Amino acid sequence: MGLGFSSSWSLSFCVLLVLMSAEASKGEYSLQEHEDGGEEAMARKHIHTHMDMSMRIFFTITELKVGKRIPVYFSKRDPATSPHLLPREEVESIPFSSAQLPYLLQFFGFSQGSPQAIAMENTLRHCETEPIEGETKSCVTSLESMLDFSQKIFGLKASFEVISTKLGEKTTSLLQNYTILKLPKPISAPKMVACHTLPYPYAVFYCHFQEGENKVFEVSLGGENGDRVEAVAVCHMDTSQWNQDHVSFRLLGVQPGASPVCHFFPADNLIWVPSPALIQD
Ligand SMILES: *[C@@H]1O[C@H](CO)[C@@H](O)[C@H](O)[C@H]1NC(C)=O
Repeated sequence: MGLGFSSSWSLSFCVLLVLMSAEASKGEYSLQEHEDGGEEAMARKHIHTHMDMSMRIFFTITELKVGKRIPVYFSKRDPATSPHLLPREEVESIPFSSAQLPYLLQFFGFSQGSPQAIAMENTLRHCETEPIEGETKSCVTSLESMLDFSQKIFGLKASFEVISTKLGEKTTSLLQNYTILKLPKPISAPKMVACHTLPYPYAVFYCHFQEGENKVFEVSLGGENGDRVEAVAVCHMDTSQWNQDHVSFRLLGVQPGASPVCHFFPADNLIWVPSPALIQD
C-alpha cells in the first residue's frame, strides 16, 4: 500500500460507509445529499428522490427566534472512525482524478463496484464538475490547501477564522425537535467559504464560495432529550436562481425566491469567515 498508510484509515472509511448506509436505509443516500454539497448540486440530485434524514437541517429566517422549535437531524460520527486529514506533501503524491480510479482502487485495496469504490468515484466526479454560476469551488485534500483556497477568496491580506457546529454530549443521530434557547448571534460574513466533507479514504472537503447575500448565525439549540448544540446556521437571502426542485423548497413549502432559505451546518463542516467574526456577544 505504501506511504505508511495503516489499515486503520481504510477501516475508518468502511465504518463511515456503513454509517452512511445505515442513514440511507431511512431515506436515500447519495454523496451530495449527505452534506450540504452545494445548493445547486443538491437540488439536481434531489429531483425525483426521497427525502434523506441528513437533509432535515432547513428552516426559514422567520423561525430564528428564541423559543422556536425546529426539527433537526444532527449526525454524530466518532472522530476516531472518520477519515483523517493527511499532510499536504503526503496527499499530493496520490492522484486525485476519476481518470485514475482503477489505479486508486488498487492502491487503496477496494474492488470495483464495492460501496467504497462507488463512493470514491462519486466524490471524484463531484469534484470534477464545473462550478455553477457565481460559484468558486475546490475539493481540498489537506488543511494547507483549504487555507490556500480560503485565502484566495478573502484576499491575501485578510485574516479569517473557522467556525463549526458543536454537538453536545447527548447528541445522537436522531431527528428531534430543538428549541432555540438564546437570541441567535449574527456572524459578520460578507464573504463565506463553506467546506463540506465528502466520502473518501482520507479527508476530502468540497469548499466553495457563492456570490450573493448570506446571513450567518450562531444558534444555541436545546434538544428534547436534553441535548445542547451550538449550531452554525446560514440563511441564503436570494434563492431565485435555485432549482425549483430543491429539497428545501419541498421541506419548507416555499417557492424559489419567495423567502430566504436557512440551514444548520452538520458538525463536520468547516465554515470560514473573515475575523473577527462575532458582531455581538
Ligand atoms: C416536533 O414537535 C411537533 C409538535 O410540536 C410534532 O408534531 C413533531 O412530531 C415533533 N417532531 C419530532 C421529530 O419529534
